[in-house]
Amino acid sequence: MYGMVNKAIQDLVTNNFGEDKWIAMKEKVGFEDDFFISMQSYPDQLTYDLVGAASEILEISAGDVLEAFGEYWILYTADEGYGQLLNLSGSDLKEFLGNLNMLHDRITNIMPDLEPPKFTVKEIGENKVELIYESDREGLASMVVGLLRGLGKRFNKNCAIEHKNLRSEFGKDTFIVSW
Ligand code: HEM
Repeated sequence: MYGMVNKAIQDLVTNNFGEDKWIAMKEKVGFEDDFFISMQSYPDQLTYDLVGAASEILEISAGDVLEAFGEYWILYTADEGYGQLLNLSGSDLKEFLGNLNMLHDRITNIMPDLEPPKFTVKEIGENKVELIYESDREGLASMVVGLLRGLGKRFNKNCAIEHKNLRSEFGKDTFIVSW
């Protein structure tokens, strides 16, 4: 994954739990550089290791780490120069969810090695959608829950998120999002 993902994990931990926790994580995963380069690709395993290390050091489940990270990502990207892209991806939650593939498509222009997830949105009620999440990567569904929570906050919606179908059982992760 691109370095900005790892950098966002570093930021989340440093800002919310303190620099010492980050240093402990860095040591645990054996990352010896001083910083991540946002526009450089790193092995996915490093990101998984960081999530695992955060889970151990902060004593929260890996799912909770991913959820917190997903929520943080919405604020982080807005701060890191992607605010305009977020703005033009939708002025309400439904429109925004329908543009998630377009959003990552645009990012591919500046990050050619991006391996983005794929989302399919189906309207199932006035303020209710079914969101199918597909990825070449495993184990990131909790991140999607956090992302959806962060988007709910961005649009001032009190949203309910139900992880309806699990990839392990159905081959695809499906979420019901209502607000
Ligand atoms: C401007 C905002 C955003 C930027 C710059 C961005 C960029 C990225 C980048 C760089 C990755 C790592 C993938 C790679 O390096 O191959 C990623 C992954 C991901 N993004 Fe986005 N993204 C944005 C917004 C969103 C939003 C709003 C969602 C909401 C659902 C989302 C869902 C995901 C997921 C679930 C992944 C994990 C990778 C996977 O599932 O395989 N992203 N994104």
